Amino acid sequence: MHRPRFGQLAVALGFFCCVLNMPCLLAQSAKTEASDLTSLGRVTGATALPNGVDVRDGKARIEITALREDVLRVRVSKAEKMPEDASWAVLAGARTSSVATAYSAKGDKVGFQTTVLEVSVDRATSRLTISDRSGAVLLQDAEPVEFHGDRFRVYKRMPEQEHYFGLGDKIGPLDRRGGTYQMWNTDQYRFQESSDPLYKAIPFFLADNAGRSYGLFLDNTWRTSFDFGKEDVNTYSFGADGGPVDYYFIYGPKPKQVVEGYAWLTGLTPLPPKWSLGFQQSRYSYMTEARAREVADRMRADRIPCDALYLDIDFQVGNAPFTVNKETFPKFPEFVQELKDKHFNLVLITDLHIADRANQGYAPYDTGAAGDHFVKNPDGSVFVGKVWPGPSVFPDFTRKQSREWWGTLYKQFYDEGVAGFWNDMNEPSVFEVASKTMPLDVVHRIDEPGFLPRSASHAEIHNVYGMENSRGTYEGLLKLKPQQRPFVLTRATYAGGQRYAATWTGDNSSTWNHLRLSTPMLLNLGLSGFSMAGDDIGGYAGSSTQDLLTKWIEVGEFNPIYRDHTEKFTADQEPWVGGPEVEAVRRRYIEDRYRLLPYLYTLAEENSRTGVPMMRPLFLEFPDATADKHPLDLDAGNQFMLGSNLLIAPAPYPEAPDSYAVTFPPVGWYDYWTGAKIASAPREAVAVSTGAALGVGALQSIKITPEINVLPVFVRAGSILPFAPLVQSTQEKPNGPLTLKVYPGDSCEGSLYQDDGISFAYKEKDFLRVKYSCDSADGGLRLRVGAREGSFQPWWNEVEVTVFDWKSAPGKVTYGGEAISKFRFDESAHSLTITLPEKAEGGELEIAA
Ligand code: NOJ
Repeated sequence: MHRPRFGQLAVALGFFCCVLNMPCLLAQSAKTEASDLTSLGRVTGATALPNGVDVRDGKARIEITALREDVLRVRVSKAEKMPEDASWAVLAGARTSSVATAYSAKGDKVGFQTTVLEVSVDRATSRLTISDRSGAVLLQDAEPVEFHGDRFRVYKRMPEQEHYFGLGDKIGPLDRRGGTYQMWNTDQYRFQESSDPLYKAIPFFLADNAGRSYGLFLDNTWRTSFDFGKEDVNTYSFGADGGPVDYYFIYGPKPKQVVEGYAWLTGLTPLPPKWSLGFQQSRYSYMTEARAREVADRMRADRIPCDALYLDIDFQVGNAPFTVNKETFPKFPEFVQELKDKHFNLVLITDLHIADRANQGYAPYDTGAAGDHFVKNPDGSVFVGKVWPGPSVFPDFTRKQSREWWGTLYKQFYDEGVAGFWNDMNEPSVFEVASKTMPLDVVHRIDEPGFLPRSASHAEIHNVYGMENSRGTYEGLLKLKPQQRPFVLTRATYAGGQRYAATWTGDNSSTWNHLRLSTPMLLNLGLSGFSMAGDDIGGYAGSSTQDLLTKWIEVGEFNPIYRDHTEKFTADQEPWVGGPEVEAVRRRYIEDRYRLLPYLYTLAEENSRTGVPMMRPLFLEFPDATADKHPLDLDAGNQFMLGSNLLIAPAPYPEAPDSYAVTFPPVGWYDYWTGAKIASAPREAVAVSTGAALGVGALQSIKITPEINVLPVFVRAGSILPFAPLVQSTQEKPNGPLTLKVYPGDSCEGSLYQDDGISFAYKEKDFLRVKYSCDSADGGLRLRVGAREGSFQPWWNEVEVTVFDWKSAPGKVTYGGEAISKFRFDESAHSLTITLPEKAEGGELEIAA
């Protein structure tokens, strides 16, 4: 039954590729005869390995090993010998890690156990089953692995209640169930809801079955595809046009554990420079130094906090990377310095294509050619393709020495004080060809520790090309300034690319629908390793209406990367466009972002340590709170969490209904903007239709009337959130106390991380970490401020504590046993604000009712 299915899929894709007039390996090979099909069958022998099992079935070899108790690797090879054991994605340490397993060969099964997993291969069919130690099946082959020439396909059973997330920023609902997806990095200008593939290839997904999760990562750089039940409602499948069958199984059972396990395999995001969490302004067509200065100065004059200004290809000579047009940007180094003095971080675009300008004094071409750093045609000539500068050549980023050469190109800009770099078009995008990229037979040279030095076709390298481009940039910057955290923004990438660069979702459009699409795209990117991600705020293609830009700036406040960007020839899109009234609303959200930065930065640090993304789908925080055994998000529209404590609930655009329901996980909630407890005192703009108090129990929802100037945001009861005084950029020292907002629940907790924001001194303990907790006692409250960890000196001398849901003036207030007289009770807001002296050793604040 499975054989026609493989054929049908290939024929369907073949049709798709023909329509687009593009080469498509999968389609080409679909023409192969059915006789080249190899399906695994009866097991003919098995050998126990210290960390797994090696199974032979006459046609293939299956090796299953345990890297950790909860992480398995599965490799299947048609050849007697396993293919080269190398990976662009998986860290060498993780790949070589192993744990002891207990071999078992009973009856019709052969396999092994770890302390948490049980693995078995059916002797009659070679089908693999992975269960937990209670015997509950987690993953099971629906059919044996199939090979069609170089292509392969793996089929898994798809339980009715299982839902799938991840695969990077593929468009679609958050849940991938029912969809098909292709991984082939593609420049999708003005992408549509149906556009697939997109810019990135991250062949990792998280499966959740009523709160029990696992992850599956197919480590294959060729064109891969995933089908979550479109072909057969009981089966999902994945496969590739070539390359190894090499996939990893990461057990939860909680979804956060899966995300952490995936980060253990493919690496963590380095702690970003703090300024990259500030507001960023960009556009394609800041044509002159004067215009760029005008934008920067207007930010300051209008008091719109901003940390970064981007220059797109317009500052270059004929769009050639690493050049500066002296006519339009006459005093570039002075201009960079001027922006620095005004506390702007300048980010420059440096596309990967190098203009084909031999002997014209264009150093990137001359040094690249001299070092033999460019990708070649099969006949040995250098491949030339057309991009922004016209005919261009392409660095061979899979060679270590070529990446190192690439890194040196940044020296002058970086020395001049440019703060960050933007690697665009690195799918790689090639103009005027149907495939939008290089021919599949273009030759790359792999020269890389861990790999055998060899030639590789573009078909194999395409999906890692962009990642290796951003890696060359990241590592180059690090070499140039070892004390400074690099900032790189990349458009294309592969699994593991989070180690080198932040990313964005590419060329979206200025429509309400695109604002809506962004949230699941960013959430799935976060689950796929990329927490430092954003979209083009306001939309890239087309012109935004004032309302759309306002709402996008509101939602963007709660996204990790907060960058306003638009295309050439569209209407201006800076926050002031549309007049003072709309500007005031947008300013309010950007200002709030800056006040909230201590919380955001604490989340960025957590992500850099654990892999848990900053922006989270609800089920990541509330894995057990499911409706009808569906992960919570399926019932929660475009809602998302920022960290564990903030719930953001935009209306489901573009419908803009009269009212919409916000689903609350079953804990208590407060209104973020007023501090009012949701059940007791809904804020005016938020019309709560149910009078019922929210509390522990089933999911509950309230009805909200959407308003352009209001983004509904809620705080989980039991949170302690840190806030800073307003600054115009992260380089400005805040003037005033640290504020801790306390939202009482049964108990509460919070934490704060700070450091200098730019260097690696935090690795030598020059950071500050404080933990907070509280509990209610006899109607009063006890708040513990932990002792400071680390040697970093904070900006504040005082800490202002605001406790919400406080009903009356307090009795005695003491901190570390000493009476505190500086407090204020706000009867209408039901809040109590107390000012404490900062103490390195921390202390206990006691508030008697
Ligand atoms: C394509 C990028 O996606 C877009 O953001 C940029 O403005 C243009 N290239 C021009 O460089």
